[in-house]
Amino acid sequence: MDKLKVFGKANLNGSIKIPGAKNAVLPIMACSILSNQSLHLTNVPNLVDILTMKKLLKNFGIVFHSHENSLSVIANNISNQVADYDLVRKMRASILVFGPLLSRFGKAKISLPGGCSIGTRPINLHLYGLERLGASFIIKDGYVIGKVKDKLKGTSIKLPLVSVGATENILMASVLAKGKTTIINAAKEPEVKDLSNCLNKMGAKIVGAGTSIIKIEGVSKLKEAEHSIISDRIVAGTYIIAAIMLNKNFVVKNINPKHLETPIKILKQMNAKLDIGDNYIKINSTHSIKGATIKTKPYPGFPTDLQAQMMALMSLADGKSEIKENIFENRFLHVPELNRLGADISVKNDIAFINGNREFKGAQVMASDLRASVSLVLAGLSAKGITTINRVYHLDRGYEKIEKTLGNCGPKIERLK
Ligand code: EPZ
Repeated sequence: MDKLKVFGKANLNGSIKIPGAKNAVLPIMACSILSNQSLHLTNVPNLVDILTMKKLLKNFGIVFHSHENSLSVIANNISNQVADYDLVRKMRASILVFGPLLSRFGKAKISLPGGCSIGTRPINLHLYGLERLGASFIIKDGYVIGKVKDKLKGTSIKLPLVSVGATENILMASVLAKGKTTIINAAKEPEVKDLSNCLNKMGAKIVGAGTSIIKIEGVSKLKEAEHSIISDRIVAGTYIIAAIMLNKNFVVKNINPKHLETPIKILKQMNAKLDIGDNYIKINSTHSIKGATIKTKPYPGFPTDLQAQMMALMSLADGKSEIKENIFENRFLHVPELNRLGADISVKNDIAFINGNREFKGAQVMASDLRASVSLVLAGLSAKGITTINRVYHLDRGYEKIEKTLGNCGPKIERLK
């Protein structure tokens, strides 16, 4: 298993171009199942999760042509609607093929995704919405098997809890359903809006994505389309926090700052000096950073996917900070690892208490999930000495060859096979 060796007191200069959003391209790849016409995607990031989704879709008979950050998907010859355990266990987002398969073919068999290190990750809301559209399910041998008599039928679906994945699965299933569907209490993440924009280019009829009420009018077929994936706000936020931790002047480019409104507001309250452009953010070094109290929330609240990175920054800030994690029940696995690097963080139920004014010292640490891994990289970059991070396959799921992409801007990061 690969390890990363991160050399501390890193330099960071110039700028970095942010790639396409992992959490936009995964549902968009899944939505290609709905159409027998080609879908041409650009600004696709090179990530392990994208390769996993490609493997899963190839399994159904879908064909891909890829060149650098472009990907064409042709789903005109799907012969199999079974998603095997071996692939699904590697990436929970595999469940996003369920709605499209049921909508186009009326049947699907998906391995139950199971939990992961940050939580049990249930799919009850996905199944609830798809049942409301007319699908029926049985759970057998660790698989959920879905069936539809005739076609899915549009209806009104009120989600009791905001769920990005459930919103996306129901949205995709509604595209070919008969009649109108309304999703109430829908997730408002930019990635949901990007999926909707792509589907509308394919000929779907969706309004309201990005708000809590999405209306879909079913259509009978879709057409060939092109779509450029939005920029990854979480990767952008990660590198903005890195520059603040290292107290360096740095520019994060090719982003939509509107997608980072809450993190920007919090960072400015912490005394970060940020210049906000129309498609970039410039970080200016500053004499000191103050602690803060944050709660993770569905978009547009503070994103849970930046919580671990923020915790690393708060360890260096003046004074105390608190983070309440409201989205996942076990997303503090990075705390003991950050403490091994010299942080002083304690956890009580769903709140982490961070004492600031710490200095990280390099050590051996263990990555546990995608965003926890990157918080260890950030701590390692600011630490005294060398930090070795084990199990970096977690990191590669969401960050393209960080030793190169970030390494090109100054830091010394080595990958050990
Ligand atoms: C998406 O996961 C993202 N993944 C996650 O990013 C992100 O952290 C999460 O949304 C929240 O923003 C992708 O988009 C591929 P949810 P998802 O359904 O859809 C509960 C990363 O690091 N829930 O919005 O799985 C669930 O347990 C990843 O890139 C149910 O109870 O998240 C959680 O507590 C990590 N039943 C809450 O809802 C369900 O059927 C929000 O989860 C579904 C979810």
